[in-house]
Amino acid sequence: MNPDTAHLLDIESRSDAFHRRVLDLAAELREDAVPWRQARAGRLLVNLFYEPSTRTRVSFEIAALRLGMRVVNIAAADSSVKKGETLMDTFNTLQAMSPDVVVVRHPDNGALAPLAEAAWPGVHLVNAGDGSRAHPTQALLDALTMRSHFERLDALRVVVAGDLHHSRVTRSGVALMKKLGVGEIRLCAPSGLEAGPRVSEGTRGFDSLDEALDGADVVMMLRIQHERLAGMAVPDGESYHRRWGLTTERLKRAAPGCIVMHPGPMNRGVEIASEVADGPQSVILEQVANGVLTRMAVIHTLLDD
Ligand code: NCD
Repeated sequence: MNPDTAHLLDIESRSDAFHRRVLDLAAELREDAVPWRQARAGRLLVNLFYEPSTRTRVSFEIAALRLGMRVVNIAAADSSVKKGETLMDTFNTLQAMSPDVVVVRHPDNGALAPLAEAAWPGVHLVNAGDGSRAHPTQALLDALTMRSHFERLDALRVVVAGDLHHSRVTRSGVALMKKLGVGEIRLCAPSGLEAGPRVSEGTRGFDSLDEALDGADVVMMLRIQHERLAGMAVPDGESYHRRWGLTTERLKRAAPGCIVMHPGPMNRGVEIASEVADGPQSVILEQVANGVLTRMAVIHTLLDD
């Protein structure tokens, strides 16, 4: 198996050429996906999700179906995981049924690394989010969204704001933006929720959303990851919104053509005002549509060996 097409575990471990190839194919699919309808016919994708998901799980499923594949969905809550089976045993059980792609979402950082070591030839793993570590397909779909609105990424000022500390979207997103040469990455987080030093390296840090927004071309809002706070105190929704929420008033500080992104799920009235989420600058549903195209491109590319 070609090591550059075996698995997608995170942005950092893949080549720039891989990312560009996926983004170019996704852009081509957006123009016309019809010729690709049977491109991977007869292949099988298994979704194995240990955490809740709407967009990610469904878009992997639709992506595979649009390539002519078959899909099996497993929610850990309904499986033998409930009877104490380990992730590795579950994965090996699935492998014995010869899937071509296994998409895994898991709450533990690095949960997929041992699975990749144990993967049989012909089984491709895709990370749909592991803990707060990585969410590579989200990073790719976000890059596709930016590329579709702006010709050149090297001139862009991109704000990423919210709970950056617990955000796998931030970790993978920033890693990819750096690889693609985004002009300026501005990170803005409440105290205690800042990104770690590796993510922050080469970015500009802000502790005021107003200042971060000045002249920005893209603003990506993130929710507070309550499930990962482990007892940490955060302000209530209303106080949070007052200081850290993206409102119509605040958005005026950004460049006129600034696009508003959010990976979902949104907490309306907390990190983002409904008026902004549903407003003319919002590309949130475009991100969802790009999610299907990007996942089609990822699956197609991984199955290319
Ligand atoms: C994100 C996730 O699960 O990491 N959502 C997504 O995949 N679209 C972000 C989040 O849960 O806040």
